[in-house]
Amino acid sequence: MTSRDYLSDLFSLDGLTALVTGGSSGIGRAIAGALARAGASVVVVARRESELAATVDELTADGARAAWVSGDLGTRDGVRTAAEGAAAVFGEPDILVNSAGINLRPPMSELDEDVWDATMAVNLEAPYLLGRRFGPGMAERGYGRIIHVTSQQAHRAFVNSGAYGVSKGALESLARSQAEAWSPYGVTCNTLVPGFVMTPLNTRLSSDPEKVAALAARTMVGRNGLADDFAGAAVFLAGRSSRYVTGQSVFVDGGFSVH
Ligand SMILES: NC(=O)c1ccc[n+]([C@@H]2O[C@H](COP(=O)([O-])OP(=O)(O)OC[C@H]3O[C@@H](n4cnc5c(N)ncnc54)[C@H](OP(=O)(O)O)[C@@H]3O)[C@@H](O)[C@H]2O)c1
Repeated sequence: MTSRDYLSDLFSLDGLTALVTGGSSGIGRAIAGALARAGASVVVVARRESELAATVDELTADGARAAWVSGDLGTRDGVRTAAEGAAAVFGEPDILVNSAGINLRPPMSELDEDVWDATMAVNLEAPYLLGRRFGPGMAERGYGRIIHVTSQQAHRAFVNSGAYGVSKGALESLARSQAEAWSPYGVTCNTLVPGFVMTPLNTRLSSDPEKVAALAARTMVGRNGLADDFAGAAVFLAGRSSRYVTGQSVFVDGGFSVH
């Protein structure tokens, strides 16, 4: 067996289909690209069509199979419509990645119900509803991979964590509940936990060089995260070789969380 065949046996996603929410930007875009380049047929879901189309154009130009569905994951009906639209493209997904997220960051005393509801809807309810829609089918077919993208704020307060930290803490609990339910049927459920990653989500913080340098110094690797740092971990968690890894929070943070 050549090393290429061996690696392909371990990590290839050929023949699998994936749905990646937030797949048009930042971490989600890097994950969608990694899954598609590893062989999966990938549908990316977000709101803005131009970003979605640009992502898919880049992947199809590379010879990957990808498509997009525009939808608002901030409402239950929006989630349901997007889920059906996505499943109609390449079939029911074997891999579900929940990367869509918002971080509105008002100080705790100004955190009103609208911010709370909006945060919970996108960051927590959408992953729950998508899991409910696709998890049972994955279990019936005997293969599934659910990957949530949480945050260090699931584990500690950090810059007005507010509702955001709560939503991410609950998302890690959701992963464990889903893992408990579906792992016996071949469906693993895990989370990827970023530290500070330079993406459009934190443009304001990223544009302050002093804060960026201070955050980099809090890692062990000595720099902040890049979206592409998630590619390998995502391919691993999406593929067959991670079959005995479930209910876990996998920190991709340069050591930030243990420094
Ligand atoms: N960057 C970091 O430092 C960091 C740290 C910890 C955790 N995270 C987490 O990592 C994930 C990805 O973040 P990122 O940094 O890659 O952010 P990003 O670049 O801002 O991407 C967010 C994605 O979510 C989509 N989205 C937001 N609201 C949506 C809605 N209502 N309906 C559908 N799609 C929606 C966005 O597309 P549209 O706006 O077009 O809808 C975009 O594709 C998030 O869950 C975030 O909480 C990020």
